[in-house]
Amino acid sequence: MLRVGVIGVNNIGRIHTAIYRDDPLADLVAVCDLLPERAKSVSAELGARAYTSVAEMLAVENLDCVSVATAGVENGSHDYEPTMEAIAAGLSVLCEKPLSNEIERAREMVRAAADRGVYLGVDLNHRLVPFAA
Ligand SMILES: NC(=O)c1ccc[n+]([C@@H]2O[C@H](COP(=O)([O-])OP(=O)(O)OC[C@H]3O[C@@H](n4cnc5c(N)ncnc54)[C@H](O)[C@@H]3O)[C@@H](O)[C@H]2O)c1
Repeated sequence: MLRVGVIGVNNIGRIHTAIYRDDPLADLVAVCDLLPERAKSVSAELGARAYTSVAEMLAVENLDCVSVATAGVENGSHDYEPTMEAIAAGLSVLCEKPLSNEIERAREMVRAAADRGVYLGVDLNHRLVPFAA
């Protein structure tokens, strides 16, 4: 059973939490959002502990992996810090697309995961829809 956390729990992060809740191989342990009401609302619904700081969540919880669904400018600019923090803590990361708007930052994230020996995946699910295939 994988002990999972989700960072960023608005539109897409909530889809990740629901999928982990329903997956027998996952235990949704914690959720983190900068906005306390968002973290608390998912926590109340699903029983995962709520955090507003990634660093605190990583320090307190013994997680195996996290989803990062944080968005930002053009939807990718907030992904770098939480992804790098999680990798540094030895966790595998499933990051929402885009990994970054800046290719050098994306390469840095990929390198960091390889150096730490953890997985870094990007949720490019639209590659599988017929009009994109
Ligand atoms: N795979 C897909 O099909 C698909 C579809 C739509 C969007 N997305 C991607 O999903 C991501 C999220 O989209 P959204 O619409 O849910 O964004 P959103 O802006 O509605 O939600 C992002 C949440 O992350 C939180 N957040 C930001 N930085 C944080 C941090 N450092 N620590 C904790 N929480 C933080 C924000 O407070 C917010 O609640 C985007 O990257 C977007 O590109 C993917």
